[in-house]
Amino acid sequence: MTGRPTDEVQALAVIGLGYVGLPLAAAFAACGLRVIGIDLDPHKVASLRQGRSYIADVDSATVARLIGAGALIPTDDYESLRQADAIFICVPTPFDAMRAPDLSYIKAASEGIAERLRSGQLVVLQSTTYPGTTEEVVLPILERRTGLRAGTDFNLAFSPERIDPGPAHKEWNVTNTPKVVGGITPACAERARALLARLGAPVVVVSSPRAAEMTKLLENIFRSVNIALVNELALLSERMGIDIWEVITAAKTKPFGFMPFYPGAGVGGHCIPVDPYYLSWKARQYDFYTKFIELAAEVNQAMPFHVVGQVADALGNQGRPLNGARVLVLGVAFKRDVDDARNSPAERIIELLLGRGAMVSYHDPYVPLFHVGGDVFLRDRVTLTSAPLTAETIAGQDCIVIVTGHSALDYAWVVAHARLVMDSCNATAGVTFGREKIVRLGAPGPYTI
Ligand SMILES: NC(=O)c1ccc[n+]([C@@H]2O[C@H](COP(=O)([O-])OP(=O)(O)OC[C@H]3O[C@@H](n4cnc5c(N)ncnc54)[C@H](O)[C@@H]3O)[C@@H](O)[C@H]2O)c1
Repeated sequence: MTGRPTDEVQALAVIGLGYVGLPLAAAFAACGLRVIGIDLDPHKVASLRQGRSYIADVDSATVARLIGAGALIPTDDYESLRQADAIFICVPTPFDAMRAPDLSYIKAASEGIAERLRSGQLVVLQSTTYPGTTEEVVLPILERRTGLRAGTDFNLAFSPERIDPGPAHKEWNVTNTPKVVGGITPACAERARALLARLGAPVVVVSSPRAAEMTKLLENIFRSVNIALVNELALLSERMGIDIWEVITAAKTKPFGFMPFYPGAGVGGHCIPVDPYYLSWKARQYDFYTKFIELAAEVNQAMPFHVVGQVADALGNQGRPLNGARVLVLGVAFKRDVDDARNSPAERIIELLLGRGAMVSYHDPYVPLFHVGGDVFLRDRVTLTSAPLTAETIAGQDCIVIVTGHSALDYAWVVAHARLVMDSCNATAGVTFGREKIVRLGAPGPYTI
């Protein structure tokens, strides 16, 4: 098979309607394709059928319009894959307790496709994963059950997702962010390229699925390593009496050869703290140890411990022990202005605070419930509810710990009512009144002479 003309792709399916899959499905549906969205979560399917989006980047009016026009068909039924000319896999790729890749979702989706795969279909894996997954995991599942051959009977490719959920980079979305694609054969790549090009963004073809898989990991490891670098310099700055935030602001005035990264309480989300481990796990099969990845992980994972240490020190300087102190964590989403709390450093910080006897509450306008514990740092699993943020709540705390600085909050107001503020993300940069109550990550601290 040489790859059918893209114009033959009239219906496509997207498996996994989360942060990645739903925007992709909506974008293809908006281009005039009939899109079957498959998700095993009945609440998501029901919500979409009622025209309600649960992803901030796709508004409900768009979902309602696409559903009404029959352009987007949400379902939990894999049988509808039979109607699709192309199938995108956008399921989660988490790691297990030992930080080894958990490919169970990709395998389950591939098995579901294999049961219905027919000659002429195009399958594109979008989930972030280690180089080799498309060829070593997905391909055998698709071929074994069906007797069909990739590159001959059906097309198979990998194309990483580069979406950045949230308002930070609103100008970049699936219709204008360049896509990378690698196919099992050049014809597979070409067919995937032509289909993806319908979204409007340039499509860059690389020589293989593993090159495309590695591209995504390079992008995320680049971020992880640079964040670790600036985190390390933040710790040094504290000891040397230098304000790292001032330094970054100055350094980024260089118009070339420098890109600012910012320190913080750790890294979170579905990508930066997870994806590098996929590569370091795979690298070991090649007798290779990815030292930069491990070093970055070591530095970034130590940050929540450092923040809790700073809280304990700051309380100690006021003559109060952390044990028994009332601590309110402000912002538990993994980054500013999003509702995604997966792998948030706030989780470890709250576990450590609870483990050291603090009475912990939190407030996050985007995260109504927050689960912590159930592991080595806090054996019991605890679900916390976002506390209302009133002047009385703030005044009743021994310390406010700002982990994620959502832009909707008024930090001058917070500082005005607080006794002590530990700011791990420079959210209080513009606050002038009450600065003596603020302890900042990466700024002169108790070690400064
Ligand atoms: N969220 C991001 O910013 C982002 C960015 C780039 C890449 N990625 C990658 O994209 C992939 C998906 O991430 P996400 O954030 O969209 O995850 P998500 O958890 O938001 O969505 C995944 C969806 O897949 C569904 N699902 C799980 N197993 C399924 C199955 N067998 N069949 C059908 N549906 C199934 C889940 O119910 C869920 O709705 C991951 O590999 C992730 O690393 C995520």
